[in-house]
Amino acid sequence: MTDTLTIALSKGRIFKDTLPLLAHAGIHPVDDPETSRKLILDTNLPEVKLVIIRAADVPTYVEYGAADLGVAGKDVLMEHDGDGLYEPLDLDIARCRMMVAGPREGRAPRRRLRIATKYVNTTRRYYAARGEQVEVIKLYGSMELAPLVGLADLIVDLVDTGNTLKANGLVPLEHIADISSRLVVNKASMKMKHARVKAFIQRLAEAVAAAG
Ligand code: ADP
Ligand code: PRP
Ligand code: MG
Repeated sequence: MTDTLTIALSKGRIFKDTLPLLAHAGIHPVDDPETSRKLILDTNLPEVKLVIIRAADVPTYVEYGAADLGVAGKDVLMEHDGDGLYEPLDLDIARCRMMVAGPREGRAPRRRLRIATKYVNTTRRYYAARGEQVEVIKLYGSMELAPLVGLADLIVDLVDTGNTLKANGLVPLEHIADISSRLVVNKASMKMKHARVKAFIQRLAEAVAAAG
């Protein structure tokens, strides 16, 4: 059916922060992804489904049209290769900064800088733009550990309160980007389901304005 809508979300902070925006669009999930094992959640509207996936997979689902729409952090979008997505709305949720961080005392300049991160593409671009040769080490989480055990000199990670850095004796050093979550839309869905998608974006935009 051309007027069904599938929306891709990740559990945790994106789901929690998107809920009030969906409510403004008249969409209320029937199940709670934190307690349910279901990956496709029904909503009060029979034509609207939510799919619950890993945050970094949202752009892929939306690009391939497995979901019409999705919510993804700008960090994830910057890292995603491909151009099959529209990004019509900054939802102004899950705000944080992408930063270079490291030990307060700095490092012994013995060799090429090693940077641990899950954002390898963004990190390579950032240092390439500055003309610095660095070695980028891909991790999947707990980046803050890397400098403590000598795996890397620095990390590129997200910082909100700074508590995680502080708890591990690290300090923020350089600001790479301000991050918030964005609504992303499949390009074909934008054409084929134009009225439905347009109305949904409009309702979310109102909700964002009301929240701000
Ligand atoms: P993951 O399991 O991939 O880390 P999260 O739910 O922690 O998933 O993060 C989802 C998105 O929320 C990230 O892509 C980022 O945009 C944002 N985010 C991550 N950490 C924070 C934070 N500490 N404060 C605010 N926003 C954050
Ligand atoms: C994120 C991020 C940092 C932390 C920063 O981790 O990867 O570790 O938040 O927030 P802070 O500056 O307020 O301490 P998250 O809580 O998402 O944990 P996880 O991704 O490792 O599960
Ligand atoms: Mg996280």
